[in-house]
Amino acid sequence: MSIAIPQLPKGTRDFYPEAQRIQNYIFDTWRKTAEEFAYEEYEGPMFEHLELYTGKSGEEIVSQLYNFVDKGDREIALRPEMTPTLARLVIQKARELKKPFKWFSMPRLFRYEKAQKGRLREFFQLNMDIIGTESIYAEADLMAAIATMLRKFGLKDGEFAIGVSSRKLLATYLDEIGAPNPAQVYPALDRRLKIGPEAFAKALADAGLTDLQVKLLDDFMSCKSFEEVRHSINEALKLIQDGKIPNRILDGSEIGTLAENAHKALQEIVELFATLEAAGYGECVNLDLSIVRGLAYYTGIVFEVFDKGKSMRAIAGGGRYDSLTEKLGGDRIPGVGFGMGDVVLADLLREHNLLPSPKQSVDFYIASFTNDMKKVFEAAQIFRAGGKTVSHPLASMKMGKQLDQANYQGAKIVVYVDGDKAAAGEFEYKDLRDGTMHVGNVEAIKAAL
Ligand code: HAM
Repeated sequence: MSIAIPQLPKGTRDFYPEAQRIQNYIFDTWRKTAEEFAYEEYEGPMFEHLELYTGKSGEEIVSQLYNFVDKGDREIALRPEMTPTLARLVIQKARELKKPFKWFSMPRLFRYEKAQKGRLREFFQLNMDIIGTESIYAEADLMAAIATMLRKFGLKDGEFAIGVSSRKLLATYLDEIGAPNPAQVYPALDRRLKIGPEAFAKALADAGLTDLQVKLLDDFMSCKSFEEVRHSINEALKLIQDGKIPNRILDGSEIGTLAENAHKALQEIVELFATLEAAGYGECVNLDLSIVRGLAYYTGIVFEVFDKGKSMRAIAGGGRYDSLTEKLGGDRIPGVGFGMGDVVLADLLREHNLLPSPKQSVDFYIASFTNDMKKVFEAAQIFRAGGKTVSHPLASMKMGKQLDQANYQGAKIVVYVDGDKAAAGEFEYKDLRDGTMHVGNVEAIKAAL
């Protein structure tokens, strides 16, 4: 009887050393940038109580949960995102943590979704979040970090864009045009471009919007400049004042206040962009009111990062969530942050030829003509000092084989431990980068790297 060969579960990946090297390059660049911006690293468990997500994360993510009942009859879910865990950490130490603070994490996440390009069931996601301030400069800090990071990966400013929108702006506009409860229409607004105009109109009609309201909303979400948004807000105000839109709020002054609030929400984005412009990131952001985001907890600015031309899924997404801790039973502590997945990012970098070589590389390979393994191990220790990477044979073998191994492992320099001058503390060495032979002591060889 033949035994079936074990299969890789759908939507997961194996990381052979070649793939892991690329993964480490992504992790290193993420970590380096987060630390450059003075974010501190944290972690949490890979699974949580199911109820941390249900009702707070949003329909889509909840429908994609990997969950099970454990041996103690507890309902458990593998974490599909980090934000609820972060909120839990914040609530637990709400008093001790000095706010505002900036944290990052690089969790492994799980979502039971249809595996496809850019979407897997297990992936990694850099999270950067700022907790404890409502200031728009927190958003500016996060976006500057995103742009810096993508530049570090080698992408040019025109090759990616951070599209920025605002739930606050959308909510006030929805109120202004008399639309029903925004929470009910967000899922439809989020799918607007995916489902097309007809299905969009139908979904909104089902949520109780009139044709005129649907048209206004569609136009609003298509605005590409601050001027167009201002115009839309003022036009809606006029339509209401002329009695063309039946508003639930009949008092004219209240409607005026709503329009004012919409202008205020827009002004936040104006200030955000001006700040980023001053820091040299003006080309990296654009206004994109079609962005709503699927997650339920966002309350203010929301943003998504795309490749130029949006040919791929979002590289990153995030936003402000000022009431998540409250929703989870804690005090109200404002927060804002984003998640950047490794899958789409790696696809994009691969497309631009920006991933490093997946080949192994070591600084030194210690070779021996006489297969004197004690000398080999002794020399390896000496050359390893100071953080150098060192390899050597693990069994007796001919010099030709040792050199093959050194080449295969990407060694820069081969050191022969038992050459003629070894007794005097000098070694013959071969620089594999140009094939030249030399003689020198340990210091000279290290300097030749
Ligand atoms: P999200 O939009 O669900 O947000 O995910 C953010 C990013 O994670 C996406 O843009 C994508 O790059 C990556 N991602 C999501 N799902 C998958 C998947 N199945 N396979 C591969 N990559 C994926 C959040 O998760 C929020 N918690 C982010 C956040 C942090 N908001 C505030 N702070």
